[in-house]
Amino acid sequence: MTTTTKFKSWRVQEQGGEYTGSEQTVSTSDLPANEVLIKVSHSSLNYKDALSASGNKGVTRNFPHTPGIDAAGEVIESASGEPVVGSKVIVTGYDLGMNTDGGFGEYVRVPASWCVALPQGWNGRTAMIYGTAGLTAGLCVQKLLQMGASPEQGKVAVSGASGAVGSVAVELLSKLGFDVVAISGKQDHADELKALGASEVVGREALAAEKKPMLKPVFANAVDTVGGQPLAELLKQIQPGGSVSCCGLVAGPQLETTVLPFILRGVNLLGVDSVEIPLADKAAVWKKFAGEWACPKTEASARDIGRGQLDGALRAFLKGESSGKIVLDHAL
Ligand SMILES: NC(=O)c1ccc[n+]([C@@H]2O[C@H](COP(=O)([O-])OP(=O)(O)OC[C@H]3O[C@@H](n4cnc5c(N)ncnc54)[C@H](OP(=O)(O)O)[C@@H]3O)[C@@H](O)[C@H]2O)c1
Repeated sequence: MTTTTKFKSWRVQEQGGEYTGSEQTVSTSDLPANEVLIKVSHSSLNYKDALSASGNKGVTRNFPHTPGIDAAGEVIESASGEPVVGSKVIVTGYDLGMNTDGGFGEYVRVPASWCVALPQGWNGRTAMIYGTAGLTAGLCVQKLLQMGASPEQGKVAVSGASGAVGSVAVELLSKLGFDVVAISGKQDHADELKALGASEVVGREALAAEKKPMLKPVFANAVDTVGGQPLAELLKQIQPGGSVSCCGLVAGPQLETTVLPFILRGVNLLGVDSVEIPLADKAAVWKKFAGEWACPKTEASARDIGRGQLDGALRAFLKGESSGKIVLDHAL
């Protein structure tokens, strides 16, 4: 039987072209008619949540809306065989937090096909330390490994290194034995990036615009989280046969490049999507993070915030000032 429960949610309202988020009391009867009602213990902050909260119509078309592309919690009602009531699940991506009310509310109602069982040994907070950003970092690294990337080939670059995706990529690559060069605009975060495993931290000027179509190949492989012109410059600096996993667009969605890195050096540009991929592919990466890919430094350095701190934390993403992993704890 379906019951109606009142709960707290961080809702974004639109008024005269301005978007404002605030805590509201809503009801489970306001949630979409999907199969699985989840009581969310934790969510995770992502750049995309900041886009949704600031009215980016490519992410969220209609307001009022509850952002939060990630959620972890307990199944309260299930109109499907799996997941069963009482089980703990993770939901990331698909439409959650875009046009389906997301994890910044204490409850979400989603299709059963979006729910992954929480890996053994994890709680909701651990899952949300990684969140979509960690999942994406894992997928970026997995693609490099599938292309044959190995530590012996040389340095691996990570752009946007202090960000949510970048910081997990730095720790994971370092853990796997790679010599990681963190590219970051935050020189005051150099020590933190080194503590995560970067052997070198260089400024964003390493990817400043150059007229030359090709540059000295200094990186064997790379994870790029920023896109735009820095990605075009990164491609010019990849060694023959190397690969770049590309997942983000904080520096812009346009990629103006020549074909030269591809046809003269056989460089591979690997697209990474963590949102619409099959659930089994997400589950495989979660299992790795709960086992041999665990990133203890990321886990230890994550920051917890309550709904009252969401506004400031999301604004920092839009200014490129956010760093590391931020967890929303609904109990705070
Ligand atoms: N494909 C997918 O499925 C997927 C999944 C998750 C995220 N993403 C995308 O990946 C990107 C990163 O997400 P995130 O959550 O890690 O965001 P984030 O925490 O804001 O990190 C992005 C980092 O990029 C750097 N940066 C910001 N603005 C920049 C600019 N104008 N030029 C160059 N560097 C800049 C900053 O790091 P430094 O100060 O260290 O340089 C910033 O911390 C976003 O575009 C997001 O939408 C895609």
